[in-house]
Amino acid sequence: MKLPRRVRLVEVGARDGLQNEPVMIDSVDKIALINRLSATGLSTIEVSSFVSPRLVPQMADAAKVLAGIDRLPGVSYPVLVPNRKGLEAAISAGAEEVAVFCAASETFSQRNINCSVAQSLERFAKVTELALSHGMKVRGYISCVAGCPYEGAVDAVVVADIAARLIELGCYEISLGDTIGVATPNQVLALIDVVAANVPRHYLAVHFHDTYGQALANILVAIESGITVVDSSVAGLGGCPFAPGSSGNIATEDVLYMLNGLGISTGVDLDTLIEVGLFIGNLLNRPSGSKVALARSTVARGCS
Ligand code: HMG
Ligand code: MG
Repeated sequence: MKLPRRVRLVEVGARDGLQNEPVMIDSVDKIALINRLSATGLSTIEVSSFVSPRLVPQMADAAKVLAGIDRLPGVSYPVLVPNRKGLEAAISAGAEEVAVFCAASETFSQRNINCSVAQSLERFAKVTELALSHGMKVRGYISCVAGCPYEGAVDAVVVADIAARLIELGCYEISLGDTIGVATPNQVLALIDVVAANVPRHYLAVHFHDTYGQALANILVAIESGITVVDSSVAGLGGCPFAPGSSGNIATEDVLYMLNGLGISTGVDLDTLIEVGLFIGNLLNRPSGSKVALARSTVARGCS
């Protein structure tokens, strides 16, 4: 196996996770969650999103959360922005990094951000320009890279073209989102090959939801093919409110367990991270979605 020596984990639980949880978490608890995540050694922790509070009430306190967290040196705390209004709010709240998000499917784009893919790229050109002029870093997401909940199959060439455009706009990294978790390893390899023809692999990250239990296998083949940035969500929180059937992201604990076993460094401490997963699980009143955390607690209770 050809494996990287180091992988950067992008923790999305406080945003992609909590945006889809029916239980509303208090801002103080979100702040505590993010501060605990900071203590695990993670270097990128998504904080929230500046989107319509009517559509995504769970993220309505983005400014309060961003203002309340302790920002550690060397750690990035990005927030999602769908348009200029979101960016301006993020700037006022002191964000240093934002993420723009488009889709490889027209219907998903309409349902998610109420505009076509082409309109979203025009919008994000202006948003990215303004963000860069404020010295911010901009990450780009592409959703539905392996399938759309409304349209089914998605053409990898469309994903590659959007990725190239986002890089042209100034995004430093493109996260390929399997929003509904349908991809299988061969499809992931084929997709990465097509995208990498337009955008070198060191610009790419992978973002797998685990709906069909394929995420770890997909991550393994992605890193074997040269990808070194992986999005994941503590306790496997999450999903997308605009993608029916989208379950949680792959749990960060489970990705980390695999990477540790492969001898790949991340700088993240597994035991501390498991504790953070239990903390948020308690607040949500449900067990962790991490298999590693569940296995550890079963062993601790002495069950066979
Ligand atoms: P719109 O209705 O077209 O916007 O929504 P509009 O410009 O016509 O404005 C309508 C109202 O929304 C106005 O308020 C605006 O002020 C307000 P009113 O005058 O009616 O009182 N508004 C805003 N409020 C707060 N923040 C803003 C903002 N913009 C307008 N930024 C919009 C367009 C994009 C705003 C809307 O569709 C939206 O917020 N969508 C939310 C999308 C979202 O959060 N999706 C989940 C994140 S993406 C994801 O999870 C996938 C990912 O994880 C990768 C993967 O898994 O694939 C990233
Ligand atoms: Mg997602």
